[in-house]
Amino acid sequence: MEKARKLADILERVRSGEDPTKIRQEARQLLSTLRLSDISRAHKYLVGSGVSFDQLRTLVYAFASILGDQFALLRANLSPDHPVRKVLAEHEMFECFLADLEEVNLMIQEATGLTELSSEYRRLEHITGHLQAIDIHNQREDDLIFPVLANYPCKSICTVLEKAHWRIKNMVGNLTMAVNNFKNFEPVQFKIQINAITAAIVPIMREHIFQEDNILYPVALDVLKDERVWWRIKQLGEEMGYCGFDPQPCQ
Ligand SMILES: [Fe+2]
Ligand SMILES: [Fe+2]
Repeated sequence: MEKARKLADILERVRSGEDPTKIRQEARQLLSTLRLSDISRAHKYLVGSGVSFDQLRTLVYAFASILGDQFALLRANLSPDHPVRKVLAEHEMFECFLADLEEVNLMIQEATGLTELSSEYRRLEHITGHLQAIDIHNQREDDLIFPVLANYPCKSICTVLEKAHWRIKNMVGNLTMAVNNFKNFEPVQFKIQINAITAAIVPIMREHIFQEDNILYPVALDVLKDERVWWRIKQLGEEMGYCGFDPQPCQ
């Protein structure tokens, strides 16, 4: 049986609840001979077998859980000026903003006499501003990177991630709306709203970044060897600068 097909079978087992660490031990020989492009082929088989998008999302996680830390390998092998390095740097910034959001949410929950002038509210407003930049980051992936990758064997992974961009856009939109409409909420309602949005947004964005760092970009660099293509992406991306980076210090 072809390696990618065997991997697809393994992933089905992870999906049906078997422990990935046990499977990893059992399939050590297969995994040691895998190329990252086998992952995208396995992904394609599963798409063909009628797996839903939600199930695929879980599977992308399963890929990472059996293959180990692809992110460390990816970073170690990227040149300092590679366009993917910029994407990874932005991911790291968004990880920081997510941690900040979790922290400020706790402060908001404990605050008494919350007003628009409270330091907790102003910090939340500031972090929300940073998180809005995820839209530009995702747009760049949708417009510049994913269409190029669609010509290589990672199209089905891009399709799953592109769908997640919509969910993230909606969630950040909800957060922005709640923050901008502070005056229209009773403080208790505002706290409930921010707590619910934070609980939804943080795991979804972390998972998304994890999938791109550990699956999409390692696979993309494995299958797309033509440096000219990456440099074209770099040139187009350079016009947009860095997303989420605000030269104004937090007040
Ligand atoms: Fe990304
Ligand atoms: Fe993304």
